[in-house]
Amino acid sequence: MVRLVLPLLITVAVVASLAAQQESTAATASLRKTLLSLTTQSQRWIDDNDTRSVQRITSHMGIVIDILATRGDSPEWKQALEPLRQAVKGLDAATRQGTKGAESTKKVEEVRKQVEALAAMTPSGKPMPAKAPAGVMKNFMYLLDSTLYDARTAADEGDLKTARLYVGSLTEFGGSLKTVKKTQVWSQSADAFIEATKTAANAKTEDSKKFRELLTAIRASCEDCHEKK
Ligand code: HEC
Repeated sequence: MVRLVLPLLITVAVVASLAAQQESTAATASLRKTLLSLTTQSQRWIDDNDTRSVQRITSHMGIVIDILATRGDSPEWKQALEPLRQAVKGLDAATRQGTKGAESTKKVEEVRKQVEALAAMTPSGKPMPAKAPAGVMKNFMYLLDSTLYDARTAADEGDLKTARLYVGSLTEFGGSLKTVKKTQVWSQSADAFIEATKTAANAKTEDSKKFRELLTAIRASCEDCHEKK
């Protein structure tokens, strides 16, 4: 009996840990893509000399890095994210002194370099439980809004691979959103939202139009929560 059960248990454990690893790799790739998008957005706001918008973006970057950080509880992973955190801080500080000039653009490039460096890093240690996003809810909602917009834009361009990456970030944001309130209505709304994002991320379709319908379903789940909250 033991001879049969033990290998089975080991197989189950290995498969489960591989699945967890794959899930973590996918989530990390998604969050990295969102960070790249935010980096590009920050440069546009700098070009427009719109300080407040740049600061909104740096706060969004902070939220995404916090979520990325929960992917592993090891000191090494925390340390690995530190240069990116510092780069974002540097960009934020530069914009506070006025967005004009090459200085801010230099800071954006530093952020971009650190985001790109993330591609070679893997979270280590055990995943940590999701926690509520820093700052006010409204600001977090703008991040959800811009990420859904990114997914929609990629789908319009027929780039479903990229669209799925953005949807993957929405799943991660959903986990964080869920922890904000403890009521049953809230949990159910957050779960429905997370489910809608997973349905889109896992859909086998390569048809942009069909994929956009899945994005519309995500949007509907956003509105469901807004009606109930
Ligand atoms: C589980 C609940 C929940 C889900 C899901 C949810 N939201 Fe929200 N949303 C809220 C709450 C609560 C507020 C009010 C925040 C405030 O003003 O303090 C809000 C407000 C907003 C606002 C208005 C911000 C303003 O200007 O006042 C926008 C835009 C928004 N959400 C976008 C989205 C998008 C896009 C999605 C889906 C991708 C989404 N939300 C999913 C709960 C949710």
